[in-house]
Amino acid sequence: MKKIIVSAPGKLMLLGEHAVVYDRPCIVTAVDQRLSAEIFLTESGEFSMHAPDVSITDYKKSLAEIGKGEIPKAAAFIERALVNFKEKYPFDEGLEVRTKSEFSSSFGFGSSSASTVCLVKALSEVFEKNLSDKEIFDLSYKTVLDVQGVGSGFDIAAAVYGGTVYFLTGGKKIEPLHVKDFDLVVGYSGTKADTTTIVKEIAKKRDENKPKIDGIFSEIEVLVEKGKICMNESDWEGFGRIMNENQTLLSQLGVSTEKLDAMIEGALSAGAYGAKLSGAGGGDCMIALCPKEKIEDVKSSIKNANGEIIEIKVNTEGVSID
Ligand code: PMV
Repeated sequence: MKKIIVSAPGKLMLLGEHAVVYDRPCIVTAVDQRLSAEIFLTESGEFSMHAPDVSITDYKKSLAEIGKGEIPKAAAFIERALVNFKEKYPFDEGLEVRTKSEFSSSFGFGSSSASTVCLVKALSEVFEKNLSDKEIFDLSYKTVLDVQGVGSGFDIAAAVYGGTVYFLTGGKKIEPLHVKDFDLVVGYSGTKADTTTIVKEIAKKRDENKPKIDGIFSEIEVLVEKGKICMNESDWEGFGRIMNENQTLLSQLGVSTEKLDAMIEGALSAGAYGAKLSGAGGGDCMIALCPKEKIEDVKSSIKNANGEIIEIKVNTEGVSID
């Protein structure tokens, strides 16, 4: 029985969410909380999956049946990735997949994308296909679109490439940024809204008032370009100001919440350079970029606003064979 262990990082959107769905760039960083997958090739002719973190235990079907019938949501990404890989690079072996996550799937750290990337990387390795990062990205992104229909693919890019990445919709540009480490405090608001639902809500708003929403997206694009320059120059004060402007635009899109606003206010009043929600919004996480000496004060302020601090490091390694 051949076995391989692969892990991929979670991610945090730094600038550009929502606009990136509409052909604009964003900046995303990989975090040190990882998802790992053990993959065994078997003689069984079966696909089986165990992912206790998302309540999948002893999920099994014959290889001939993969991609067919009822598929639990939490197994869908792995199963679809397997179907897509097998279509391109046919094989007959059975496969057992076991995933384990260092982060809760209720944080928007991208567990589905990370698990998809892990599987594609593992299959590439185990069948000696030697896929490039871009090939792993493309196959994983296709999988995500097959399963959820929407998404820019930024989370896949973070899982594959790691570090901090300037990213254009669908991977038209994936540019690793050479940044020095920076300090980000992350606060979880206690609720996770469904990303696909919010992305669809924004699409509806755009249908109703295209000039307004596209105008906001274009302003976000300008901020991302400025942010990229600040990041290359390690101008964290400048980057923080841009985060604040991005947050104002996200509020105009209607995706911030009172709770997120309170946590962001708290972080800024405690001395953060900048703070904003991260991801689709409607709950989930906020991030604050901080001078080192203010980190503890910023954390306390976020906690005072009833946020939960998630300890992470940014700019970490992409998918790897462990
Ligand atoms: O909610 P998250 O962390 O998965 O981020 C979603 C970011 C969006 O730009 C709203 C969607 C996307 O696929 O880029």
